[in-house]
Amino acid sequence: MASIVPIESVKKFERVGFHTHIRGLGLDEKGRALPVADGMVGQREAREAAGFIVKLIKEGKMAGRGVLMVGPPGTGKTAIAVAIARELGEDVPFMILSGSEVYSTEMKKTEVLMQAMRKAMGVRLREWRKVYEGVVTKIDIKTAPSPYNPYQYIPSGAVITLKTKKESNTFRVGAEIAEQLIARGVEVGDVIWIDAETGRVTKVGRARGADLGSEVKLEEYDITARRYVEVPDGRIEKEKEFVYTMTLHDLDEYYAQRGGLIGLIFGRVEREISPDVRQQVDEQVKKWVDEGRAEIIPGVLFIDDVHMLDIEALSFLSRALESEFSPIIILATNRGMTTIRGTDIVSPHGLPLDLLDRLLIIPTRPYKAEEIKEILKIRAREEKVKLSDEALERLTEIGEKTSLRYASQLITPAAIRAKSEGREVVSREDVESVTRLFLDVTQSVQHIREYEEKFLK
Ligand SMILES: Nc1ncnc2c1ncn2[C@@H]1O[C@H](COP(=O)(O)OP(=O)(O)O)[C@@H](O)[C@H]1O
Ligand SMILES: [Mg+2]
Repeated sequence: MASIVPIESVKKFERVGFHTHIRGLGLDEKGRALPVADGMVGQREAREAAGFIVKLIKEGKMAGRGVLMVGPPGTGKTAIAVAIARELGEDVPFMILSGSEVYSTEMKKTEVLMQAMRKAMGVRLREWRKVYEGVVTKIDIKTAPSPYNPYQYIPSGAVITLKTKKESNTFRVGAEIAEQLIARGVEVGDVIWIDAETGRVTKVGRARGADLGSEVKLEEYDITARRYVEVPDGRIEKEKEFVYTMTLHDLDEYYAQRGGLIGLIFGRVEREISPDVRQQVDEQVKKWVDEGRAEIIPGVLFIDDVHMLDIEALSFLSRALESEFSPIIILATNRGMTTIRGTDIVSPHGLPLDLLDRLLIIPTRPYKAEEIKEILKIRAREEKVKLSDEALERLTEIGEKTSLRYASQLITPAAIRAKSEGREVVSREDVESVTRLFLDVTQSVQHIREYEEKFLK
């Protein structure tokens, strides 16, 4: 297998738009929940329980176990899962899957779950690579007619001079590197690296107004450049350490595409990955870990509406909890006793007992008016919306009567209405008006039922 993996970085947070205000669990040093902290309000027992989970994870005591968040809609199940991931650290992957998403026409249910698990497992790779590093003091791109279209001139190579504080050297490079030099807009005065093995060009920044010899004078203030860096010291040819963070799924995709043109031509296609590839990747990662070149960063896989999973998917999940490369699995449901999908067995939360045995259960409870108000205030601030006191009062009432989610979803439309009326601050009328336009779920069901009744008569 090749030693370099040219993948950018982990997509850390997916689909967390509603939860951008959550920065952590908001606990003190003793693990007690502060009333309002880290964007979190109330729900103190659940937050403290989540704090314990974070401790267990950090001490490596969650292996083979998972978490189940149980509570009515809009009580912060997802918010607390997001907070757990935030508490675990900056580049810890967090992946959200809804139970209904496993039913896809392209992939087996177990494959969807497997991919989600591997997207939630990070690998941090350290690697020493040989590079040419220096500030560009001269660059000359050569062009030649394209072999396919003689009227079109394409880069055929380049001659480039690199300089450090110690030495200067001129290199002749091929078409591939020349193309990258053009694509990255490399100019005289830029500090760049060229990977000796792959030829990949990285632009580091503009050289700070240093002495570049008689041939070039750098302007002191170059307003077009964003980042200034020192002119590198030492030799041009050197070993440099690189750190990449990626997920096991990124590696699976990468190795599955090797040798195949499909991925290159059509881009990344959602598709199944063979167990062989995964095994190969696992072995490679273990080897890297043994050699001290990689670290595994287990992330969080959050499965919402877990009662939507059927028995086949659930038993896969039970087994997966035991596997070596398993992320922290947090499940959530708002169902009590219900049938396990795909069977006629009634079970708590629609989950088989052997899975329930492995789960630590955290309940969430409906919010009091004061807490709803506080959360709506935070959401409004997050969405940069100014609410009048009356508007906030009305939204709080709506949140109490229907759900917190419905109330917070009304903030943006109300703000748009205010703006179209030429006002900065959202009024009570704005809230009333959008409430009439958009129904909450109970109302929308009622709406259909009225018509059904008329129809049947
Ligand atoms: N305790 C809390 N503190 C701050 N924000 C919260 C809290 N609980 C819920 N929220 C926010 O309220 C909204 C609904 O909560 P959510 O986590 O989606 O509920 P659930 O997953 O239980 O249906 C989200 O925007 C969420 O971030
Ligand atoms: Mg949720």
